Amino acid sequence: MHRIGKLSAIPNGTSCSLNAGHRQLLAVMRAGKLYVYENECPHSRETLDPMGGSVASGGGLILACQRHGAEFLSDTGQCVAGPCVGESLTGVDYTIEDDDILID
Ligand code: FES
Repeated sequence: MHRIGKLSAIPNGTSCSLNAGHRQLLAVMRAGKLYVYENECPHSRETLDPMGGSVASGGGLILACQRHGAEFLSDTGQCVAGPCVGESLTGVDYTIEDDDILID
């Protein structure tokens, strides 16, 4: 198991990048629930947040890629606007232990 971050460090309605070794992940907090994805836009296989900061909007409903504007539903990862409509971010399973976010 790898500790990738602290739950308390991700305010509701925001996203952040997390690293697990060579893996780049994107976590978003929506309505008090955490979702974790591979930080890889289906459009170009690049990260969604090259400029840094949160890419979440609408209280965490939407993740918007900073490169070319693809928009993803944060709870399913499905792209609903932009160059890769119908494709999806790849979800990452996690567990929470105290305040730590853990992945395999
Ligand atoms: S790289 Fe994400 S929309 Fe093109």
